[in-house]
Amino acid sequence: MKNIRNFSIIAHIDHGKSTLSDRFIQICGGLTKREMSNQVLDSMDLEKERGITIKAQGVTIKYINQNNKTFYLNFIDTPGHVDFSYEVSRSLSACEGALLIVDACQGVEAQTLATCNMALNMNLVVIPILNKIDLPTANIQKTTKEIEDIIGISSKDIIKCSAKTGKGIIDVLNKIITDIPAPIGSLHTKLQALIIDSWFDNYLGVISLIRIKNGILKIKERIQIVSTKKNYFVNQMGIFTPKSKNKKILKCGEIGWITCGIKDITAFSVGDTITLYNNPTKKIISGFQKIKPKIFAGLFPVNTEQYEVFRTALGKLSLNDSALFYEPENSHALGFGFKCGFLGLLHMEIIQARLEREYNLNIIATSPTVIYEIETTNKNIIYLNNPSNLSKLQKIKEFREPIAECNILTPPKYIGKIINLCLKKRGIQKNITYYEHQVILKYEIPISEIIINFFDQLKSISSGYASLEYNFKYFKKTDIVCLNILINSEKIDALSLILHRDNIYRKSKKIVEKIKSLLPRQQFNISIQAALGNNIIASSTVKQLRKNVLSKCYGGDVSRKKKLLQKQKIGKKKMKKIGNIKIPKETFFSILSN
Ligand code: GTP
Repeated sequence: MKNIRNFSIIAHIDHGKSTLSDRFIQICGGLTKREMSNQVLDSMDLEKERGITIKAQGVTIKYINQNNKTFYLNFIDTPGHVDFSYEVSRSLSACEGALLIVDACQGVEAQTLATCNMALNMNLVVIPILNKIDLPTANIQKTTKEIEDIIGISSKDIIKCSAKTGKGIIDVLNKIITDIPAPIGSLHTKLQALIIDSWFDNYLGVISLIRIKNGILKIKERIQIVSTKKNYFVNQMGIFTPKSKNKKILKCGEIGWITCGIKDITAFSVGDTITLYNNPTKKIISGFQKIKPKIFAGLFPVNTEQYEVFRTALGKLSLNDSALFYEPENSHALGFGFKCGFLGLLHMEIIQARLEREYNLNIIATSPTVIYEIETTNKNIIYLNNPSNLSKLQKIKEFREPIAECNILTPPKYIGKIINLCLKKRGIQKNITYYEHQVILKYEIPISEIIINFFDQLKSISSGYASLEYNFKYFKKTDIVCLNILINSEKIDALSLILHRDNIYRKSKKIVEKIKSLLPRQQFNISIQAALGNNIIASSTVKQLRKNVLSKCYGGDVSRKKKLLQKQKIGKKKMKKIGNIKIPKETFFSILSN
């Protein structure tokens, strides 16, 4: 155990975590040059495309230092986007140390500060690293000062490196050996292992990445999940180097994978503790908090026959994504689907893209809503995450909406614009702290306002420099209404929205215009109305049009005609027919995004 080091890499998005991890793997000979062709840790296709790390993954590498001593380094890559901070807490709970990477050109960002505090609170040793020092725009002095001032780490501990050129990487490896403590725990006590991550493999069934905190686990042994008392035989086990390597035993301090050849996707929940069936511990490993979803949206298969496939797919995705919530929902307009809970819009987009790509599903998403707390006159507390249920509620004393504490880190010159944006989003300023090159603005903002483009607007008004970190704080009294949308006088439940009463007339007008711009002209007039109860407060009409796609073809070229008809067919597929009206599937999601 003395020669094991377990650590996480935490940093803001794009500061170079994955590149640094790849450099470690290269130096320690985990892969050949050809195998290194792509960044290896970001293995999910979607991650590669978006260039962001979504899932935490653990890799074991063998490092021989200058004194010829061998060390086994287990590192867990973590995502850097604001939506995914729960993945960071999960990774940290399996480690004794963390590398805090700061891009020398960008400086400290809000997320970096938040994750660093999380690591320090969990008593992890934090090693600050200044990355990208090879770039001409790197400002080492300024960034070092920021790390000292804002994070509070002494500049003599900071290591400067370039994950791209490899400069300083050996210093980082040596610092990991000297500063991060070896894992503590006992080989001779009852088995206690933390499930860091679980995912589903079509051939092997459920695979779990685990950290052994105490004891030893051998292949073929019978294990028990402490929380559920369910038991299974370990079929196979091993480590990732990053190639998968089978092993017969995993010992205290090690991180590796196990599989029990089971298909029950709920059996190995992330954060659960594993012990031995014959000699069980009752102690659950603490420190890992399950995070609740922040936003909710209805997801419906365009093709109703795909409902069962959809249910199975959600089950598989939620296995290693404890923040993904789902329950059946029935919409008059869209049929059977699920009300799903997500951490933020990016999380929602990723789940939707994975459902479409990995499971070949065609999904309609309704516009997202937060969860509201409602107190009734007889003091019952109800939670509401579905706009169409609002009208069914009676005897309401008070509505409360979720408020987040936001920390915005920005260079001083953007403060004015940011304060205006926060005001527009019903924010209340709590604090401003000035540092030499940066300012931290602390605001309380309703989460319903944050989920609609707040992050993108913040980035755009600050030329990309401001960064945001936010956390749910409390429920606050509010005044909300349910806005119903009628299309040709028929209420479309999947288009209903919960909105703050402020400026409701202006907002409804905008929403109606937005729907108008999204609906294609059809062979009859389509009226769009927004209503509060029985009162129509905004309306518009999409004028009829007889569309003849073949009118563009002057000559009689058959293949060209076919191509146009084919194009129209594809266009049609993306529509949902409600009554006799075709509605593009984006409509349900994008009505709020203006
Ligand atoms: P997420 O996985 O999305 O959180 O990002 P990340 O922090 O893993 O960043 P990643 O390693 O993907 O690097 C982001 C970009 O910065 C890539 O284009 C890298 O090639 C580049 N990069 C990383 N480290 C260095 C460096 O030391 N120098 C230079 N010049 N570029 C670097």
